[in-house]
Amino acid sequence: MATASAAPLASLLLVSLLLLLGAPALSSGGGGVAHPGYSSGGEGTCGAGDDSCGLASAGAEVALEEHGGGRIIDITHAYRPDLPAPGRDGLGPVTRLTESMANGSVNNVSELKMVVHSGTHVDAPGHMVQEHFVAGLDVDKLDLDVLNGPALLIDVPRDTNITAQAMESLNIPRGVRRVLFRTLNTDRKLMWTKEIDTSFVGFTEDGAQWLLDNTDIKLGNYAGVDYISFAAFDHLISAHLVFLNNPAIIPIEGLKLDHVKAGIYMLHCLPLRLIGCDGSPIRCILIK
Ligand SMILES: *[C@@H]1O[C@H](CO)[C@@H](O)[C@H](O)[C@H]1NC(C)=O
Ligand SMILES: *[C@@H]1O[C@H](CO)[C@@H](O)[C@H](O)[C@H]1NC(C)=O
Ligand SMILES: *[C@@H]1O[C@H](CO)[C@@H](O)[C@H](O)[C@H]1NC(C)=O
Repeated sequence: MATASAAPLASLLLVSLLLLLGAPALSSGGGGVAHPGYSSGGEGTCGAGDDSCGLASAGAEVALEEHGGGRIIDITHAYRPDLPAPGRDGLGPVTRLTESMANGSVNNVSELKMVVHSGTHVDAPGHMVQEHFVAGLDVDKLDLDVLNGPALLIDVPRDTNITAQAMESLNIPRGVRRVLFRTLNTDRKLMWTKEIDTSFVGFTEDGAQWLLDNTDIKLGNYAGVDYISFAAFDHLISAHLVFLNNPAIIPIEGLKLDHVKAGIYMLHCLPLRLIGCDGSPIRCILIK
């Protein structure tokens, strides 16, 4: 009886051994460590102190970015130096080496410095409303339940800002709590253009109010759009205030929705726990 069970065990060991022996052949560098990052052919290799790190691949990723055989879609923009950023000529580098192996340190250590409202990010209620700021409604208080759950990715007609009329035409069913609005901004590749373009599409004041009054994208719900501001330039403050006055609404800005099929997904968004802060970079993914 003992020999009968020993045979499968032996073949299992053999398979494991073969896999182990085969492993080095699968790797493509980095001291034989197999890692998906190596498959990109070295394009993403960043030299320390290289300010243009990541710039080389800019433009290439306008494509859909899938993981896990298409199960996961990344809808977060990489922090490329040429991301549009208010008040400056592109975002620029956000990390900087403070210790470097080339200079004799035992490891490379970078520090992060960036405007929190750049790239794909979230606004806290205290971003524009003093009362909410004083109440401590910072980015660390955002409700993870709102930030994670089923979401509808919807296409806004390309000839309009997100006005009350446009909102009405979308027929977003009651009960839908999370909506990602894809607009003309995505077609115009505005997030791939270094210069801020103030003609971007966003919510008008009446569009924001319509959302509050007529949809369930309200209590604990959120609106995400595909440029650095969810409010159209001409309604920058007024439309922001309609949402930010209501602390239950969580607005995500700067989503990367290129080539993602419209429809319903599981959305996962996680901001950093920046105590007292008015916003945060956020990593958002869709799961099919
Ligand atoms: C560390 O930084 C140096 C430049 O200072 C660079 O040449 C080297 O490739 C980096 N190594 C690692 C492991 O990051
Ligand atoms: C490494 O040393 C070079 C030359 O002294 C200097 O220019 C560079 O800033 C240093 N980098 C780091 C990360 O310390
Ligand atoms: C959206 O509004 C902006 C002003 O905020 C304007 O420049 C732009 O042309 C409008 N876009 C459309 C498609 O109506």
